[in-house]
Amino acid sequence: MLKIAVLIVAAGKGERTGREKPKQYEWLAGKSLLARSAAAFAGLPAQETTIRVVIGPGQDDLYAAALPGGAPPVAGGARRQDSVRLGLEAIEKSAPDFVLIHDAARPLVSPSVIANVVNALTAGAKGAVPMLAVADTLRRKDGDAWATIPRDNLFRAQTPQGFRFADILKAHREFASRDVTDDVEIAALAGIKVEAVPGEETNLKITTEKDFALAENLLGGESVSAMGYDAHRFCDGDHVWLCGVKVPHTHGMLGHSDADAGLHALTDAILGCIGAGDIGQHFPPSDERWRGAPSWKFLDHAAKLVAEKGGRIVHCDVTLICERPKIGPHREAMRTRIAEILGMDVARVSVKATTTEGMGYTGRQEGLAAQAVATVRL
Ligand code: CTP
Ligand code: MG
Repeated sequence: MLKIAVLIVAAGKGERTGREKPKQYEWLAGKSLLARSAAAFAGLPAQETTIRVVIGPGQDDLYAAALPGGAPPVAGGARRQDSVRLGLEAIEKSAPDFVLIHDAARPLVSPSVIANVVNALTAGAKGAVPMLAVADTLRRKDGDAWATIPRDNLFRAQTPQGFRFADILKAHREFASRDVTDDVEIAALAGIKVEAVPGEETNLKITTEKDFALAENLLGGESVSAMGYDAHRFCDGDHVWLCGVKVPHTHGMLGHSDADAGLHALTDAILGCIGAGDIGQHFPPSDERWRGAPSWKFLDHAAKLVAEKGGRIVHCDVTLICERPKIGPHREAMRTRIAEILGMDVARVSVKATTTEGMGYTGRQEGLAAQAVATVRL
């Protein structure tokens, strides 16, 4: 019975991205980097596969959020190689045949790169590493001159790096005092022969901020837009809720919830992007739970449904249609509030307003209407 262990190292701090959160716990097109890495190993051709993740101190909550339902994490160390060693030791008892050691920072690893590594191991290789030839001309700065480095025997190493479990654990223990950049280097110190298998350009390691956008573009995906519309009647009162902001007015707004037509239209637009029905289906007006409910709850629910489908809301545009109240003074607060509810950049949220020049029900100020367009990347 073939037993393969997958060790994903995720104990780094991701300092080079400049972000507060370590990169492996960030989201990429609606899914965490870590979850993407883990998912790529789901279809391994082994009788038994275990996936364990090595995390850093204080990263337990980030881990739980990034990989819900993941196996208990292993505590890592100061250097990558320490994290690998500690991870290997944590799974020693299960005595796998092979181990695939992968950087959580390479979320786009494909099943075919993983298969290349596994196939080399099952065919007898002691170690296997995805590598790519170097395409650019390489130069070394020698004072003012630029020396050309011949590319012929130069390769770029990626992960997962695969080994026979017992061999690589022994090598990591034996050479723990040396400073290495990856497991191939440890293998070399221990005299383990490593074979190169084809890597992929798309198997990039997220290192700096610009790599997030690059990875997102590589993921491609489709942009889907949908619209929503809502109207509410004015009633007695002294304020209305619009786009999550309390706006003083000569009237109130009639509705089962807080009657925020702006957020209702936007919620419907978002639901429309994923074909998830409309707001009335999710929050029936007949349900007492939603009496007077703040509408941000509806919006938040729709956003969670998008995230569950692996999608991401990339743009929202709301148009409020009313003679009064004047929207201009509240526009920025509305954008900020929507961005806050959806966890989006405010630059991707637009709120506009128009009158109907006295015509129709909004013109007669019987009520107001809102329409919205949302764009989701799936
Ligand atoms: N890693 C680890 N333990 C460490 C250092 C790194 O498990 N002590 C992991 C990282 O989480 C990452 C992989 O090793 O998945 C490759 O390391 P790198 O890209 O250098 O990530 P970071 O060290 O987190 O980033 P930076 O060097 O920019 O701080
Ligand atoms: Mg590092």
